[in-house]
Amino acid sequence: MPVPYVLLSAAVSLDGYLDDTSPDRLLLSSAADFDRVDEVRASVDAILVGAGTIRADNPRLLVNSPDRRAARLAAGQPAYPLKATVSGSGDLDPTAQFWHTGGDKILYTTDKGAERAPALPATTDVVPLGPDLDWRTLLTHLHDTRGVRRLMVEGGGTVHTQLLQQGLADELQLALAPLFVGDRHAPRLFGPGPYQHGRLRLLETRPVGDTVLMRYEPTAPGTGDLPHAADRHWLRLACELAAQCPPSDTAFSVGAVVVAADGTELARGYSREGGDPVVHAEEAALAKIPATDARLGGATVYSSLEPCARRASRPRACARLILDAGVRRVVTAWREPDTFVAGADGAGVLAGAGVTVVVLPELETAATTPNRHLVG
Ligand SMILES: NC(=O)c1ccc[n+]([C@@H]2O[C@H](COP(=O)([O-])OP(=O)(O)OC[C@H]3O[C@@H](n4cnc5c(N)ncnc54)[C@H](OP(=O)(O)O)[C@@H]3O)[C@@H](O)[C@H]2O)c1
Repeated sequence: MPVPYVLLSAAVSLDGYLDDTSPDRLLLSSAADFDRVDEVRASVDAILVGAGTIRADNPRLLVNSPDRRAARLAAGQPAYPLKATVSGSGDLDPTAQFWHTGGDKILYTTDKGAERAPALPATTDVVPLGPDLDWRTLLTHLHDTRGVRRLMVEGGGTVHTQLLQQGLADELQLALAPLFVGDRHAPRLFGPGPYQHGRLRLLETRPVGDTVLMRYEPTAPGTGDLPHAADRHWLRLACELAAQCPPSDTAFSVGAVVVAADGTELARGYSREGGDPVVHAEEAALAKIPATDARLGGATVYSSLEPCARRASRPRACARLILDAGVRRVVTAWREPDTFVAGADGAGVLAGAGVTVVVLPELETAATTPNRHLVG
C-alpha cells in the first residue's frame, strides 16, 4: 500500500539529546533554523508529533510566515498542514495549543485510547487503529483518506525511533546545535533497538545560523515482503537508469541495482550497456559482482521491469541469473507485458524458487516512461 514520503525532523545537541530535563522547553535551533523548519512545514501536507511532545512542549506546529501560508493557499492547499498526533493512552490535555491552532487535526490512537481520550475540538478527527497502533496502517490511512503525500515528523524520540527502525522514514533532517545537555536522563534523539546496519547516505549539509543541517536517507533494503523506504529509493534509481538506456524498438529499457543487506551498492546496470545490443540490466549488474561475493546471499536486486523468465539472446534468463547468484529478494516496479514474450512471468519463476518478490506499483509510471514507444 502506498504511504507518504516521511521526513523526520529534529534539532539535537552535540551530545545527542533532544531536550534537557527542566520543565521549560530547551531551544536548540537557531533563529535561522526555526525559519528553515517553517519553510519545511510549508512544503508538507501534514505534520506529526507524538503525544509526549505535546505534553512536554505544548507546541503549536504552525506555518508562521504569512507569505508561505499565502503561497499554500494560492497552490490550492490549506493555509496550514494537517496536524497529526499519536497516543496509545488517550492521556491528552484538551487545552493544549496543538488542538486550538492551525487547521485540521487528527489523533491516531488505540481502541482503549479512544475511550479514554477527552473531548477534543470539532476540527479533530479521532481514529482508533485497533488494540495496538501500527505505523504502516497509520501512514496508509494518512495517504489514502487525507491525501497526505509528504509527512513531516517533528518528534519526539519515541516516534522517530520507531519510524526509523521500521524502515518507514525516507529522510532524516537533523539540525546539530552547538550546545551540550550533559544529563543522561534527558531524552535522546534515537533510542536503543534494531537499526539498519551500514551507513546512511548523506544528502546535504548546510550551516543555518550557528546550527548545521544534516540530511540523510536510509540505505538498507527491507528484509521481507513489506517495502522499506530505502526500497523505494533504490527502485527509483533503477528507473532513472532505465531512462538512460540507448533506445531500441526491439527491447525494453530497464535499469537494475544490486544492494547488499547493509545498504552498500554492489553494482548497477542497464539495458544495452557498454554497446552490447542484447545485454539486460540485471545481467549487466550481476556480471560486475564476483560470484564468490558472500554479500549476494543477503542482497536485493532492484529492477525497473521484472526480471525476464525466457530469452532467445542468451542461454540464461535474468530470473535464472538471479537464482544462480544466490539472491533471495527482488524489488520491481512493472510486470512484463506481452510485447515481446507472451506470458512472461519472471516474478513467478523467482517466487516459485523461494525468492521474495516485491512489486511497487507507485513506481510503474517511472519504469514504463522510457518504454512508451513500445507499450503506448
Ligand atoms: N529537539 C527537537 O527537535 C524535539 C522535537 C520534538 C520533541 N522533542 C523532545 O522530545 C521529548 C518527547 O519525546 P518522547 O519520546 O517522550 O515523546 P514522543 O515521541 O513525542 O511521544 C511518545 C508518545 O507517543 C505515543 N506513541 C508513540 N508510539 C506509539 C505507538 N506505537 N503506539 C501507541 N502510542 C504511541 C505514546 O503516547 P501515550 O503516552 O499517550 O500513549 C508515547 O508516549 C520532549 O522532551 C520534547 O521536548 C524535541
